[in-house]
Amino acid sequence: MILEPEKFRTFEHAGWEKIPAGYHQTFGSLTSQAIEPLLDAVRLKKGMTFLDIASGPGYVAAAAVRRGATVLGVDFSTAMVEHAKQLHGGVEFREGDAEKLPVGNKLFDAAAMNFGILHLGQPELALIEAQRILRDGGRFAFSVWGKPEETVGFGIVLRAVELHGEPRVELPEGPPFFRYSDPEECRRGLRVAGFESPAVTKVPQLWRLPAGDGLFNAMKGSTVRTAGLLDAQKPTVLEKIRSAMRAELVPYTKDDWVELPMPALIASGVKA
Ligand SMILES: C[S@@+](CC[C@H](N)C(=O)[O-])C[C@H]1O[C@@H](n2cnc3c(N)ncnc32)[C@H](O)[C@@H]1O
Repeated sequence: MILEPEKFRTFEHAGWEKIPAGYHQTFGSLTSQAIEPLLDAVRLKKGMTFLDIASGPGYVAAAAVRRGATVLGVDFSTAMVEHAKQLHGGVEFREGDAEKLPVGNKLFDAAAMNFGILHLGQPELALIEAQRILRDGGRFAFSVWGKPEETVGFGIVLRAVELHGEPRVELPEGPPFFRYSDPEECRRGLRVAGFESPAVTKVPQLWRLPAGDGLFNAMKGSTVRTAGLLDAQKPTVLEKIRSAMRAELVPYTKDDWVELPMPALIASGVKA
């Protein structure tokens, strides 16, 4: 596998520019479940300065403001930054790359990245950047999805593609989506970037979606890499994938909704 960080970044960027509203509608209530564990991991308190990295619709930034912190959110997508500003008037958001943050050294007491690291071509750089912008003793935390055997929504779509479609499509090559789903890889990455006392905890989360095609529509319309995988399938194959996903959701369906276990890992460290 030859990684293509620049091509991958362009692909991710183009994807995120198109989906802020869909992402907010489908993933917002899910990724928001990791906010309090993240803010607890960095011990965020009133009066602290806080950076929300890859802030998307700005959920973490807004929660940090509610805790009384002075907050900046940074995301590389113009459309996401605009969406965040509309949702959370009065919270500061700025365009910028997680791998080259547009802020000076040692400015923040704490920083977090909620489900951002798995979208980066060079996540190692983002960890070093998070370390750079923190004051000595500052804390950083990031969240990632559990492995697909545990995150049922990802398991279902990936299995359906594996069984009925072509899982090896031509997309710009990025790091493995589930790389940091391994706690040891989180701890190693944090240590290499200069963080001490790396710690990883697991948070149970539930994703509530409309029954039937809710999961297919969320994956196709509100993601980037998974949507790229689905978009590359032939129409007849895609139809088989859609049916297989519907069938796998039956055990999780109650009335008009499904509830899918989607646990997250919260990794954190302290700047030496
Ligand atoms: C899965 S969303 C997470 C959004 C938000 N943090 C949340 O809590 O739901 C990933 C976000 O990362 C942003 N992103 C991806 N690559 C980035 C990069 N290199 N620099 C900054 N933001 C990036 C995307 O624009 C998107 O808003």
